Amino acid sequence: MAVNTAQFIKEKTEELKQAIKDGRALCAVSGGVDSMVAACLAQRAVGENAIVLFLDNGLMRANEASEVAESLKKQKIDLQVWDVQKNFFEALKGIVDPEDKRKAFRDIFYKTLGQAVRSYSADFLIQGTIAADIVETQKGIKTQHNVLAQIGVNPALFGLSILEPLKTLFKDDVRKLAKALGLPQKVYNRKPFPGPGLATRIIGEVTPERVEKIRLATSIVEETITGESIFQVFPVLLNDRATGIVSEKRVLGEIIALRAVESKDAMKASPCKIPWPKLEKVRDRLLKSIPGLVKVVYDITPKPPSTIEYI
Ligand code: XMP
Repeated sequence: MAVNTAQFIKEKTEELKQAIKDGRALCAVSGGVDSMVAACLAQRAVGENAIVLFLDNGLMRANEASEVAESLKKQKIDLQVWDVQKNFFEALKGIVDPEDKRKAFRDIFYKTLGQAVRSYSADFLIQGTIAADIVETQKGIKTQHNVLAQIGVNPALFGLSILEPLKTLFKDDVRKLAKALGLPQKVYNRKPFPGPGLATRIIGEVTPERVEKIRLATSIVEETITGESIFQVFPVLLNDRATGIVSEKRVLGEIIALRAVESKDAMKASPCKIPWPKLEKVRDRLLKSIPGLVKVVYDITPKPPSTIEYI
């Protein structure tokens, strides 16, 4: 059943107010619609006692921090930004196994968040967990979703309580809420982007140089391949070399896989039938702009058996 947005906002704001009382709540936002909505609800509930923080971890897309700040300014939320790029790259250094990479990201994320909790003397952590996160975490499909108890992280160790005002909702309803709260279209229509950011779009080691490549590729792909029916579209930097020809000489270069899927709620997905000219256009732009790239492939696997992301 569709959610009654006005009533939901009223109820959740009241619930958060009752829970937080005169304590302080920390809301870590990623720019995604879920965490932005959760932060807006918290701000409505307790005003400045809701601290809204963006961890600039070096794994976000181009201009993400400034766009998040701009969207929240309209909500009269003063975004705090921490530059923690070095810590994240240090934590990910040398790691190639996909699950180890997720674990390393999770560990440094919660370690940093723990520091933020202490530094702002927060009593509560507001998380934008939605129903799909819980379902997939319970099924063991992903370990990175924000359900701390289920991934064996005890919030009490950080001395704080977790509040998850959106955990009964699916994405469609969260988007409706975002619109009703007055967040800009680019937030409520934003396509899903994983918490570990561009680290999920890199097979093998995550280094600043490799992130730079995939960040540029991501901007190109998002600009070139657009459309309402596309649930997600993104490039992935593979971890092998392919033979190419540059200036009539044989070289070994990078491989990028392009993935575009249609989906309702990310539980199942099918590859988009992107028109060939669009694929050619994005291929040409990528080959021209990404240093060392010699091969672009298009992924045609559905979920299942594949997941949407590569790690
Ligand atoms: P998969 O790859 O499991 O992805 O088919 C399903 C949806 O979840 C997103 N995703 C994540 N979102 N943290 C997130 O916040 C994560 O660790 C994560 N991993 C995957 C993915 O982009 C897709 O929309």
